[in-house]
Amino acid sequence: MFTLENKTALITGAAGGIGAACALIFARHKIGGLTLTDVRKENLLHSASQIENETGVKSVCLDADLRKEEADTALIAEAVKRMGRLDIVVNCAGISRMGNIYSVNEEQWDLTFDINLKGLFFICRETFRVMEKQKDGCIINLSSQAARGGGILVTPDYPSSKAAVLTLTKSLAKAGAPNNIRVNTVSPGLITTEMTTTYGYDPKTVPLGRIGTGEDVAGAVLFLASDYASYITGACIDVNGGISMI
Ligand SMILES: NC(=O)c1ccc[n+]([C@@H]2O[C@H](COP(=O)([O-])OP(=O)(O)OC[C@H]3O[C@@H](n4cnc5c(N)ncnc54)[C@H](O)[C@@H]3O)[C@@H](O)[C@H]2O)c1
Repeated sequence: MFTLENKTALITGAAGGIGAACALIFARHKIGGLTLTDVRKENLLHSASQIENETGVKSVCLDADLRKEEADTALIAEAVKRMGRLDIVVNCAGISRMGNIYSVNEEQWDLTFDINLKGLFFICRETFRVMEKQKDGCIINLSSQAARGGGILVTPDYPSSKAAVLTLTKSLAKAGAPNNIRVNTVSPGLITTEMTTTYGYDPKTVPLGRIGTGEDVAGAVLFLASDYASYITGACIDVNGGISMI
């Protein structure tokens, strides 16, 4: 089994289903340093303690609201201070809501874009400052099946923000390539997490016949974070059980 012993990682949204699964799979692969961040401090500490119980890997836990540029700058600086370097960043923090076009007001629109796109951008920009000096690193951004399909149960701000993540990732991949910074996207389909507990997904709509798990997504993230993906940048891996094959 390959290991991530010589690498360190920061995961946003690490109190959530997909973020926690990514943290666990990195820990199972003996990551050298792990920083977990989320706005929900209690849940973050719970994720970290489960990971430590199973793998022995201790995490640095930093609670922060990613909507503010200064918070993102401080977060990356603190992660580097605590771990020495930063090789992998996984941007899982995000929100979505059920509804239709009439259930979106200006406040919700701004909140969705502030978290799903603006916060993600500033995390990436601050990460670039570190990785450019290292001449190495990789970032994995979570988009969504909804980015290309428009979404089915969610309000339209969500797929719009996730489509922007796909495009932003390509811009960043071009900006990072000269310094060997790879930037890729993972686009999950229907995944059982807290975000989707009320959505009532029907497994019969999925060609592989089941709803996905955080572990399904984490496997793709692990691959992109590994040296096996060293020639992959600006790409998107769909993890959706075949629900869309565009
Ligand atoms: N679950 C799915 O079916 C699915 C499908 C496609 C894409 N995604 C994407 O995958 C990512 C992870 O989703 P998940 O299913 O684990 O959801 P989740 O709700 O379990 O986790 C999201 C995490 O983001 C955190 N967060 C929200 N606002 C924040 C803020 N301002 N600052 C810091 N952290 C904040 C939340 O506290 C939460 O822990 C999201 O970007 C989501 O859009 C999920």
